[in-house]
Amino acid sequence: MNQAIDASVVTSVRAWEALDSRGRPTVACAVELADGRCGRVVVPSGASTGTYEAVELRDGGPRYGGYGVRKAVANVNAVLGPAVIGRDAADQRDVDTYLRDLDGTDTLSRLGANAVLAVSLAVWSAASDGTISESTQPVGLPLPMFNIISGGAHARGGIDVQDLLVIPIGAQSVADAVEWGWRVRRATEEVASARGLTAGLVADEGGLGPVLRKNRDALNLLVDGIQASGLAPGVDVAMAIDVAATQLADDDGYWLRCEDRRLDPQEWLAVLLEWIDAYPICSVEDPFSDDDWESWAELTKAVGDRIQIIGDDLFVTHHARLERGIAEQAANSVLVKPNQVGTVTDAATVVETAHAHGVRTVVSARSGDTEDVWLTDLAVRWQAGQLKVGSLTRSERTAKWNRLLELEADPDIDTALRRWETIQRR
Ligand code: PGA
Ligand code: ZN
Repeated sequence: MNQAIDASVVTSVRAWEALDSRGRPTVACAVELADGRCGRVVVPSGASTGTYEAVELRDGGPRYGGYGVRKAVANVNAVLGPAVIGRDAADQRDVDTYLRDLDGTDTLSRLGANAVLAVSLAVWSAASDGTISESTQPVGLPLPMFNIISGGAHARGGIDVQDLLVIPIGAQSVADAVEWGWRVRRATEEVASARGLTAGLVADEGGLGPVLRKNRDALNLLVDGIQASGLAPGVDVAMAIDVAATQLADDDGYWLRCEDRRLDPQEWLAVLLEWIDAYPICSVEDPFSDDDWESWAELTKAVGDRIQIIGDDLFVTHHARLERGIAEQAANSVLVKPNQVGTVTDAATVVETAHAHGVRTVVSARSGDTEDVWLTDLAVRWQAGQLKVGSLTRSERTAKWNRLLELEADPDIDTALRRWETIQRR
């Protein structure tokens, strides 16, 4: 064996049960390499999970209300870990292929996607050792997408749309982008308070969770918040929404519960187009459910290159679903969440496929996340272009923005904030 491989051989893998930002159990894992490098990660977990996501293993039973992950931890310590020891951590594809084969299911439901991802990420983290780029070219830092108002499964304020966000499209640096996002969040909170709305409570991703009776009230609140912040809507800061529409869908169409309105897909499409026309919205995520491919293609055709249409639950960071989306022109952008698919290699493949087809990539955290910053590093390594990790409060969110700020401030790395370009479709 040559010396380089010797140095990056995995010598130990150890997992334990930890807690995510929602206070639910999750898998933590530490990997050591022969030369002493180590990686330690805690895996995230979603609330509005897509139907086709890789499957987390939960214990059931009385511990932690059934959310315990002792089985997944045991699968790392007894099966996945021992099998990875002796393998070369520098060959992530080999490690991940091996982990996937050990599980043997497409959704990693046997050993648990939370167990598999913990090992995959900890191996990646040990091997990359904080290096974010091997090239001498300037490193593009992803443009942030900040959550300002939350609804749906992430808040109890009642609106159906899950996230209302801003993208600081006019910012020249991460430092400015973060300060602009902060300014909008604070101004929106002040506007909400002036309207007698209790907006102070922090939702799962750190955004505001005002109690509102209409989805449009939230859109109005955000545009007013941007204006009150002194930034220009649509010029400095654009709006984005994540509908998470799988949560709204039933057999007949889409159900806006806070407005008590039931809409068929055509009516819902018309509402979305009205919103896109009426507000400076530059990005719409999961406008339809993860089975409604036809409506997706209709919306994408209707907006063309004007705005980004992002598939989250639609693609679940899964190569085959993205390929179908590209063939059917269902969306022009893809959300990338490593835990939706279960290995670093599978997520990287989705990024590569997307870029090869002119599909934009937005790397994303989960609503149940952790203090880790590997997601920021992956987004930079992949040159993903955009990063979505929630709002500007709660340490599991700010940790990831802080890592971006750290990279920008590092005098040894030549960085530049990615610019917002018009979408270049294939
Ligand atoms: P989740 O939500 O982590 O609860 O799935 C995040 C998103 O929908 O983007
Ligand atoms: Zn989403």
